[in-house]
Amino acid sequence: MSEFQKKQGGRSSLKDSVLKLLQNSKGQSLSGSDMANELHVSRNTIWRAVGQLKEEGYQIEAVTNVGYCLKSDNNILSVHGIRRYLQVELPEIEVYKSVSSTNTVLKEKAEKNAPHGTVVIAEEQTGGRGRMGRPFFSPSRTGLYMSILLRPDLPFSESLRITTCAAVAVAEAIEKQTDRDCRIKWVNDIFCEDKKVSGILTEASFDMENQGIQYAVLGIGVNVFPPHEDFPKELEGIAVSLLTQEERHEDFRNRLAAEILNTFMKYYENIMDEKLIQEYRARSFLLGKEINIVTRDGSKRAAALDIDSQFRLKVRMEDGEVRYLSSGEVSVRSR
Ligand code: BTN
Repeated sequence: MSEFQKKQGGRSSLKDSVLKLLQNSKGQSLSGSDMANELHVSRNTIWRAVGQLKEEGYQIEAVTNVGYCLKSDNNILSVHGIRRYLQVELPEIEVYKSVSSTNTVLKEKAEKNAPHGTVVIAEEQTGGRGRMGRPFFSPSRTGLYMSILLRPDLPFSESLRITTCAAVAVAEAIEKQTDRDCRIKWVNDIFCEDKKVSGILTEASFDMENQGIQYAVLGIGVNVFPPHEDFPKELEGIAVSLLTQEERHEDFRNRLAAEILNTFMKYYENIMDEKLIQEYRARSFLLGKEINIVTRDGSKRAAALDIDSQFRLKVRMEDGEVRYLSSGEVSVRSR
C-alpha cells in the first residue's frame, strides 16, 4: 500500500466529514439517511465510510432502524479531532497511519509547492529521523509525529530560530496540557525531569540566490504514552513518555497536536522577537550545570554558562577558555 493510500483523510474527505458528524453527537445515534442528506451522498456511501472508520479502530455501533453511534474514539489522531482545538488558520492537515518519516513526506510536498502551514502527522513512522543521523523511535499510536511546512522570510543565518521557537512552543504546550514541568536541553530536546519526552528536527532547503530559506520542514516527535513494547535498550534511562498508562485519556494526542500548533504559530509570528530567547533561556536544562561536550577528539568537560542572542551555548572549558557552540552534542555530567 502506498503512503498516499494509508492517509486517513485530508481536509475534505467524506470519511472525515462522517467522523465529524459522529463526534459532534458522540454517544447518541445518528441515522444513515440524515447523514447522507447532510453530506449530499447516498446511504450506501455513508455505510462504506463508517466501515472504513471501524477498520481504523473507531468503535461505532450500528443499530438497525436507528443509526450509527460513536462509542469511543479510541485515541485516534484525526484531522477533525485536531481541528476541533485549533485556533490558527492552517491550509492543510493530513494524518497518515504509517509513513517512513513525516519530514520526508512533507519535503516531497514542499517540492511540489505545498503552501506554508501544511501539516503532516502520522500514527507511526517506520524510518523516523533524529539529529545527527540517529533514528527516532516512533511506534504506532503512542506518540505524536508531526511536521510543519514553513516558508519563512529569514536569512540563512537565523535558521536556528525555527528550532528554538518550536522548542519553546512544545514545552509550553506540554505544560498546558499536563502537569509536567518542561525544560529545553539545548538545542532541540524537551525534557521532563531529567528524561527526554520530545525531539525536534528542522530540515531546510536554501535559496542560493537570495541567501535565504526556500522552505523549512519542522519535525516534532513526542513520546506521549508508554510504548506497547517498551523503549529500545539504547533509550532506557534516557527517554520517557509524557503520560503513564493510567493517565492516558481519550483525545489527548489530538489536543496536544493542536496546542503545539497554536503555540508554535503564536511564537512564529514574532520569530525575531527578543522574547523568544528569554523564554528559551528561562527553560534551559543546561545552564549552570557541568556538562560533557562530544567532540571529534572525544568528550570534553565544561560548564554551561549562557545562551547568547544567536542561540549559541556559551561554555567555560576546564582550562578556563570560554567558547560559543552553535551545534553539537552535550550531556549533563552526573555528580
Ligand atoms: C531528535 O531527537 O534528534 C529529533 C527527533 C525529531 C523527530 C520528529 S518526528 C516527526 C519528524 N519526522 C521525523 O522523521 N523526524 C521528526
